[in-house]
Amino acid sequence: MKISLGADHGAYELKEAVKKHLDEKGIEYVDFGCFSKESVDYPKFAFLAANAVAKGECDYGILCCTTGLGVSMAANKVKGIRAAVCTNEKLAEMTRRHNNANVICMGQSVVSQELAMKMIDIFLSTGFDGGRHERRVSLLTDIENGKDIG
Ligand code: RB5
Repeated sequence: MKISLGADHGAYELKEAVKKHLDEKGIEYVDFGCFSKESVDYPKFAFLAANAVAKGECDYGILCCTTGLGVSMAANKVKGIRAAVCTNEKLAEMTRRHNNANVICMGQSVVSQELAMKMIDIFLSTGFDGGRHERRVSLLTDIENGKDIG
């Protein structure tokens, strides 16, 4: 399994902690930045990490910013990406089971590092339920492709 990582200055520390966590678990990752606490624009880093997932170069993405919101908005603009902001373990589980999310987003000012690592572990180890959720996720793709599903 290979993970893409992206963060802005508001979550540089959280991203570094995520790297340490993945190292301890022996999980491979690609760090798309940012690489310091200097102020940067989150869409760029969210795009780079999300695009690696969309292109199949990474299996999942982990994106962090101050709130988790900006990176999720940016990632969800990339075709093929289903990014979810998670603030608790239940959300990390359900967005894999029901939405087949391929990117988890979190905010450094919102979750503790301990919770962030728990959510990551759950996200990376939970499968998609499929079944009726397959149809619903397909409808998300239809929207992405400009189809009128109304
Ligand atoms: C940066 O100040 C902040 O806006 C960013 O980290 C993120 O939370 C945006 O949604």
